[in-house]
Amino acid sequence: MVNPEISHHPTICYRSMHPSDLEILEQIHSDVFPIRYESEFFQNVVNGRDFVSWAAVDRSRPNGQSDELIGFVTARIVTAKDSEIADLLRYDPSKGHQSLVYILTLGVVDAYRNLGIATALIHEVIKYASSIAVCRAVYLHVISYNNPAIHLYKKMSFKCVRRLHGFYLINGQHYDSYLFIYYVNGSQSPCSPLVLVTFLVTCMKTGIKTVAAKLRKNEEKMVK
Ligand SMILES: CC(C)(COP(=O)(O)OP(=O)(O)OC[C@H]1O[C@@H](n2cnc3c(N)ncnc32)[C@H](O)[C@@H]1OP(=O)(O)O)[C@@H](O)C(=O)NCCC(=O)NCCS
Repeated sequence: MVNPEISHHPTICYRSMHPSDLEILEQIHSDVFPIRYESEFFQNVVNGRDFVSWAAVDRSRPNGQSDELIGFVTARIVTAKDSEIADLLRYDPSKGHQSLVYILTLGVVDAYRNLGIATALIHEVIKYASSIAVCRAVYLHVISYNNPAIHLYKKMSFKCVRRLHGFYLINGQHYDSYLFIYYVNGSQSPCSPLVLVTFLVTCMKTGIKTVAAKLRKNEEKMVK
């Protein structure tokens, strides 16, 4: 599908972020997010300090704009055990240090929306997280009224695990957020369907054994 606002056929490519992306990265953030970010955040992102990020560009854009950002995702590696979702992971201390990838910002400029760019950027993050053997999940917050983003994360099989009341403070007003999680490397939540089925099977087995033991006892009594 070609967006009527784009006067040419886009050729979308994905690349890492460069220091020369600084200005446009700040510009898109201020255009698409209600939250203001510190300039240190942008400096760190474009220089790859503390953050991992991916940029989307349209190679067929005219007037020297073929390498200009039209979308991006920024993320950070965090320690699983100290994270706010530690209780949502089946933590195995025998596995030592375990990590998570937290998505901070994701944005696509208006004219390039609904072309699958955000989907591709999130796929990059999932691929990256999956390539880290000790990584357990990708997670993020989204403001509760952001339907396009919520639709996107659900479509990509992220699980909505929590609603956090008053998580965001924007212009003096509090807004709820949803916490979405995508497990990688075979991880699962403590209450995943697989864990529940295993639990039920164990209970049934234990129950059957108990009943069988009682029946055996009764039989022995009758013989005596
Ligand atoms: C959310 C955002 C990143 C999506 O980018 P995108 O490149 O358009 O996303 P994709 O093209 O990969 O997928 C968009 C999906 O959302 C759907 N969508 C678009 N607008 C929608 C709306 N108003 N309500 C519900 N779903 C919507 C599209 O139909 C598409 O789903 P489909 O494939 O089932 O049709 C983009 O809208 C954006 O930059 N928003 C502002 C910043 C933001 O909110 N970032 C997320 C913060 S957590």
